Amino acid sequence: MTRINSPSELKKLRKSILSKRDPKKPCITLCSGSACQATGSREVAASIEAEIEKQGLSDKVDIRKTGCHGFCERGPIIVNHPEESAYFQITPEDAPEIVSLAAKDGSAAERLLYTDPDTKEKITHESDIPFYKHQQRLVFGSNGSIDPKSIDDYLAIGGYSALEKALFQMNPDQVLEEVKKSNLRGRGGGGFPAGRKWEESRNAPGDVKYVIVNADEGDPGAYMDRSLLEGNPHSVLEGLMIGAFAIGSREGYVYVRQEYPLAVENLAIAIQQAEEYGFLGENILGSGFDFRVIVHRGAGAFVCGESSALMTALEGRAGEPRPKYIHTAVKGVWDNPSVLNNVETWANVPLIINKGADWFTQIGTERSKGTKIFSLVGKITNTGLVEVPMGMTLKDIIFKIGGGIPGGKKFKAVQTGGPSGGCIPEDLLDLEVGFDELTKAGSMMGSGGMIVMDEDTCMVDVARYFIDFLTDESCGKCVPCREGLRQMLKVLTNITEGRGKDGDIELLQELAEVAKEASLCALGTSAPNPFLSTVRYFRDEYEAHIKEQRCPALSCKELITYHIDPDKCQACMICKRKCPVEAIDGGKKKIHIIDQEKCTKCGTCFEVCPSRFSAVRKISGEPVPPPIPEEERTITRKSKAK
Ligand SMILES: Cc1cc2nc3c(=O)[nH]c(=O)nc-3n(C[C@H](O)[C@H](O)[C@H](O)COP(=O)(O)O)c2cc1C
Repeated sequence: MTRINSPSELKKLRKSILSKRDPKKPCITLCSGSACQATGSREVAASIEAEIEKQGLSDKVDIRKTGCHGFCERGPIIVNHPEESAYFQITPEDAPEIVSLAAKDGSAAERLLYTDPDTKEKITHESDIPFYKHQQRLVFGSNGSIDPKSIDDYLAIGGYSALEKALFQMNPDQVLEEVKKSNLRGRGGGGFPAGRKWEESRNAPGDVKYVIVNADEGDPGAYMDRSLLEGNPHSVLEGLMIGAFAIGSREGYVYVRQEYPLAVENLAIAIQQAEEYGFLGENILGSGFDFRVIVHRGAGAFVCGESSALMTALEGRAGEPRPKYIHTAVKGVWDNPSVLNNVETWANVPLIINKGADWFTQIGTERSKGTKIFSLVGKITNTGLVEVPMGMTLKDIIFKIGGGIPGGKKFKAVQTGGPSGGCIPEDLLDLEVGFDELTKAGSMMGSGGMIVMDEDTCMVDVARYFIDFLTDESCGKCVPCREGLRQMLKVLTNITEGRGKDGDIELLQELAEVAKEASLCALGTSAPNPFLSTVRYFRDEYEAHIKEQRCPALSCKELITYHIDPDKCQACMICKRKCPVEAIDGGKKKIHIIDQEKCTKCGTCFEVCPSRFSAVRKISGEPVPPPIPEEERTITRKSKAK
């Protein structure tokens, strides 16, 4: 790689990269993000490479291993260019057909295309599939078309043109003004305006200033930052460089969790390649601007994602928050002004500089501009990463993009905002996603986790689960969080295990109020949200647990019992054979009975009982019917006909 010393040299380099690429040449792009690797994309890549070799097509067909395409439910995913035909759930055995068709005439392998679940018709193009059709993938879209390990791929799609524009056509004030005008709000938590934070740092006294990428991403179920960093690390770095230029920083950090090995690997390669070309280092592109980036691997504590804790960890000390009477933008790492932004926030910056704030503000709602990437998980048909314009309704995200709830079940709630977010019920499905709208509904945007829950989910248990997570993750520095959450967890556990008492809801509300008001950092102040939102929308479930020892969702183990309906049992022996603790008594023609003393409530009998019988029942809050007398247990032909 030769170092680029001026915009004209960059132009030449881009031209030379593009001249070596034939947009009409068949290129098989294969998702190689972590999720697809887990379902075998490495093996698929190896067999496609071997097949290209075997069929002597090395000059005719390219393969490109890209980042995450988003539709993780259906991985490994392949998109063939230039036709953009998309294949799903590919196995190594599919390689010969994929390669030969790509080389022949680009026609699609019908059997590997997506089948529309409603029309049962095959859909050829990725952009026509409902999962993708309703998205607006401005930040995440390039993930599926470039190899994150190749800076040339990034340059070929116009990468680093925003940096060039900032350095040579704008001054730091103009960059700052553009970001302020765009009203870009932080994608990592509170939605604080990025431009205001940058301005505060720029105006803060001191020559040494830092810019930092928050890639800690500790929310259960969330993986959009990981996928962006894995799939398009240069977009994040470019945003960081532009931010550094705007505030007058010469050193930046990427704080990324150690459990993200592919993100760390691709980031390290990206930094090295950017240094070799001269996008990082001294006198960048001959502009006189110096900037370097250091990767800091976090040990994986949720609290280290909080700004002051992250900066303390960056300094090499235990990651604990501190009071923020003075903002970290003014006194952050080693007491120097430090701008911390989320991965996705930084990745938006090159778009804003390239296309302008006026373009950006046309997307989204009045107070939430641009798009947002959500990780759509839980009881949802199309699990994956989705990027939508702010203002899209929850209903459209869950049903149009997510394909609704699997197994014919009913939607119950969606949890947004990570562990300290809240649960939004069905009657608020028309809510438009935006920072303020979600907060008003008792939840929050957070970093974009979206966990869908169906009718089988107990909302009291959901609150217990998240408070348990947060109790574990509390750093223990302040009493309201450390002790308050522990007490909340105790009360919630009692309720889900049938030991709830009158007054428990009020006690939880009191504890929640104190944690909200008096905790040191936002882990504690937002931790009560899972309880507060579930009690706000599903109070009847709390009351059923406390007053009737009944779990309406039939989910809390201590409150349910399995029972075999003697009128429905066909003595097929399946449940008896599968029961791991031999708690079922019965024979070939003998109605089965569960020994409640032995039963561990694992639910195996319920799952294996054939649906045409549905003889095993889950009950809660009602007495278990007594076993039928021994003499009535024999099934005769007559009773079977019944
Ligand atoms: C307990 C806790 C964990 C957090 N974890 C993250 C995280 O993993 N990633 C992130 O970007 N922000 C996280 N935040 C929010 C950060 O404190 C900070 O607001 C954010 O990184 C600022 O970037 P933004 O303005 O671009 O969103 C967390 C906050 C708290 C209180």
